[in-house]
Amino acid sequence: MYVASTYVKKEMFSESEPDLVIFHANELVTMNTAFGAPRIGEDMSELAIIHDGALAIKDDIIIYVGHTDELMSKFTFGEIPRKIDASNKLVTPGFVDPHTHIIFDGTRENELSMKLNGKSYLEILKEGGGILKTVRETRNAPLEKLVENGKKILDRMMSYGTTTLETKSGYGLTTESEIKILKAIKILNDLHPLDIVPTFLGAHAIPIEYENRADEYVDLIISEMIPRIVKKNLAKFCDVFCEKGIFSIKQSRKILKTAKRYGLIPQIHIDEIVDTNGAQLAAEMNVIQAGHLLKSNLNGLKAMVQANVIATLLPGTPFCLMSNEYAPARKMIDLGIPIALATDLNPNCWTESMQMIITLACYNMRLSPSEALVASTINSACALQMQDEIGSLEVGKKADIIIFDAPNHNFLPYQFGVNLVSKVIKNGNIVVDN
Ligand code: NIG
Ligand code: FE
Repeated sequence: MYVASTYVKKEMFSESEPDLVIFHANELVTMNTAFGAPRIGEDMSELAIIHDGALAIKDDIIIYVGHTDELMSKFTFGEIPRKIDASNKLVTPGFVDPHTHIIFDGTRENELSMKLNGKSYLEILKEGGGILKTVRETRNAPLEKLVENGKKILDRMMSYGTTTLETKSGYGLTTESEIKILKAIKILNDLHPLDIVPTFLGAHAIPIEYENRADEYVDLIISEMIPRIVKKNLAKFCDVFCEKGIFSIKQSRKILKTAKRYGLIPQIHIDEIVDTNGAQLAAEMNVIQAGHLLKSNLNGLKAMVQANVIATLLPGTPFCLMSNEYAPARKMIDLGIPIALATDLNPNCWTESMQMIITLACYNMRLSPSEALVASTINSACALQMQDEIGSLEVGKKADIIIFDAPNHNFLPYQFGVNLVSKVIKNGNIVVDN
C-alpha cells in the first residue's frame, strides 16, 4: 500500500486565532461535501456558494468558512497577520488535475503538421513517432533533466490554479527507466509546493524491442516492474492504455489484477479511439477512475454506474487530435456517472491550464460552468481518493485556494485563453500573487 509522505490530518483548530483570512469574496465556492463527494446528476451543479464569503486559515488548515460579518465578530480582526480583501472576486478550492503525464523529455510540436496533412494519432505512433519518440528521448535523459522539465511544468500549473495533480510514468518502458521517472516524481513532490500523486503506467505502449511480443512485455510488467515499484513505494495507482493495437482487454485485465494484488489502486485509459468494451472492463476491475471514454458503449457506461467508476474526461485530447468528437458528457451525467476533468498534459496535448480545460468542457461537451468546476475540484479529488483532504473549502481541510480576478464562476469558461488567477494559496501559503 502506497504511503504518502506529506499529509497528516491535523486536529481541529476551532479555538485558535487564524494567521490568514480572506474576506468579502463576491462568490465563495465552498463545494461543501454535503452535496456529495463525488457529486452526481443534478448535484453536479451545486457549488454551495456563499456571497460576501470569508475563510480563516491556521497553518495549512481551514478553520472557518462563512460570511464576512460573522468572521469579523468571531476573531480579533485587527490582530490577524495576513488579510486578503477579495471584493469583486471569485474564490474556489484549488484545482485538482487527476490525469497527467508531465515527466518526459523532448517535444512533439512537429506532429501538428503531420496531423494537418491527415495523419492519425495511431499512424504517427506506428511510424515510430508519438509516444515512441518521447520514450526514446526520455530513456536517454538523466534524472536531473526530467526533474528540471517537470519543475517548469509544475510552476506553470500552479500559476494557473492547480494545487494537486496526479502524474504517470510511461515514457520509459524498461524497469530502470520507469523507476527513473517515478523517482523524478518523488523528488518533485518533495521539493515543489504542489502535491503530486504518482501512478505507474508501464503499460503505455509496446516498446520497440518487444514489437510483436506484447505478451512478453506484459509479463515483464507483472513479474518485475510492479513488484519492484511497490517495494520502493513509488506509486499509489496503476494505469493501462487499453486501446486497439496497444494493450488488449485481456492484457489490461491481467496487469490491473496483478497491480491490485500488490496494493496499487487501478485506473485505466479506455475507448479513446476505438470502442474495445473498455468501460465494461473498468467496471469489472472496479477502477477508481477511467479516462477518455469517447467511444464507450451504453452497456459499458451503465456498468460503470453500478461500479461507482469516475469518468475522467480529457477534452484537450480530441482538441489536439483535431477531432470533433468529444466524450458524451451529458449522457454520462444523465446516467449518474460522476465526471472529473483533467488536462491529460502530455507531449501530444500540452496545456497546464485547467481553465482551458473548463472552457473546452463547456463549449465542446456542453457542461455548465458549475458542472465543470465541480469536475475540476471535488470530483477530481475523489478520482484520487483525496476528498477528505482537498477539493472543497470546509473546516479541517487543507487551505488550497484560488482567488480569481473574476466576479463569478461563469467567467471561468467565458473569458478564455487568458489566466484569470489573482492569487493561489497552497497549504496556507500564498504561492502565486499576480
Ligand atoms: O492519455 N493515450 C495515451 N496516452 C496519452 C498520450 C500520450 C502521448 O501521446 O504521448 C493520453 O492521451
Ligand atoms: Fe493520458
